Amino acid sequence: MPKIIFLPHKIILPNGAKLQAKEGETILNVALRNHIKLEHACEQSCACSTCHCIIRKGFLSLSGWSEKEDDILDKAWGLESESRLSCQAIIGNMDIEVEIPLYNINSITEY
Ligand code: FES
Repeated sequence: MPKIIFLPHKIILPNGAKLQAKEGETILNVALRNHIKLEHACEQSCACSTCHCIIRKGFLSLSGWSEKEDDILDKAWGLESESRLSCQAIIGNMDIEVEIPLYNINSITEY
């Protein structure tokens, strides 16, 4: 079973987390199943970018991304070359490390 390491985020997850995942799950579903409150304003329909995350390890083990995900990611705060929408990125058979960005498109104050 692959593991997901969520790096610490000072508001959402101050101590970070190391979680078991199932191959074929999305990153967002693993987070929500483990009570990590990642925003997902469009309810996982690939329309909002609030679930943006940055993959620090294991990027290539995730599923490929669609043109629609690419378009929505362009709206994300802090976009990097290894950014994904956590509602669209499906976990493969390797461990991954995920950073939750400090802000998202709905943030109105600094955390
Ligand atoms: S929850 Fe809206 S794009 Fe992922």
